[in-house]
Amino acid sequence: MTASHLVRPDIEYKDSYLEALAEFHAEDRLKYYDMLTLRADFDGFVKMLRTERGVEHQPLQDWAEPVPETVLWFVKDDHYLGTVKIRHRLNWHLEKWGGNIYFAIRPSMRGKGYGKKILTKSRPYANYIGLEKALITVSPDNVSAIEIIEGAGCTFEEETAATAQFPARRRYWMDCS
Ligand SMILES: CC(C)(COP(=O)(O)OP(=O)(O)OC[C@H]1O[C@@H](n2cnc3c(N)ncnc32)[C@H](O)[C@@H]1OP(=O)(O)O)[C@@H](O)C(=O)NCCC(=O)NCCS
Repeated sequence: MTASHLVRPDIEYKDSYLEALAEFHAEDRLKYYDMLTLRADFDGFVKMLRTERGVEHQPLQDWAEPVPETVLWFVKDDHYLGTVKIRHRLNWHLEKWGGNIYFAIRPSMRGKGYGKKILTKSRPYANYIGLEKALITVSPDNVSAIEIIEGAGCTFEEETAATAQFPARRRYWMDCS
């Protein structure tokens, strides 16, 4: 038994990750990851995640330059529990919507305190990357994420209204210094 912790993506978690991906797909998330493709070449998927190149931003991929992004998986023993993405800097799209840090816990593992842990544990990685403070944006109706972000001591900046391009967001800054 190991404590839950963050690791770089690794093929060791293939079975568990693919189970989790099916859960995310069922709630309409991560649809841009095709199950069959990942199953056939999980090694390539892991390598891609580990390049830190950053992904195109959906749905406005033509409008925003990709920024370097560190992807970490939150695991316990050989089980994948969730993902945190740390963007090394902001582009205008991340400024308005995605922020520096995004985190998610797989649906079957929610409500067990892992959401709080994944954000807290991401702070030293953000510091290592060189971020003094990290922007975290969240939908105003995402009650559990707001609870986690405020519980982690993040500073609330503002709530932006929805526009034609972006949904409403609450903006917070996490001190990583
Ligand atoms: C947001 C998310 C990470 C929360 O993960 P989680 O593992 O369920 O979080 P926790 O178990 O640590 O719960 C955090 C707090 O939210 C509260 N909470 C959970 N679900 C809730 C709900 N439906 N209504 C109100 N509060 C809720 C819990 O009470 C808990 O606080 P407590 O421990 O003091 O009681 C998870 O729902 C998720 O991955 N969502 C999809 C991705 C996402 O929205 N990410 C956030 C981007 S900023």
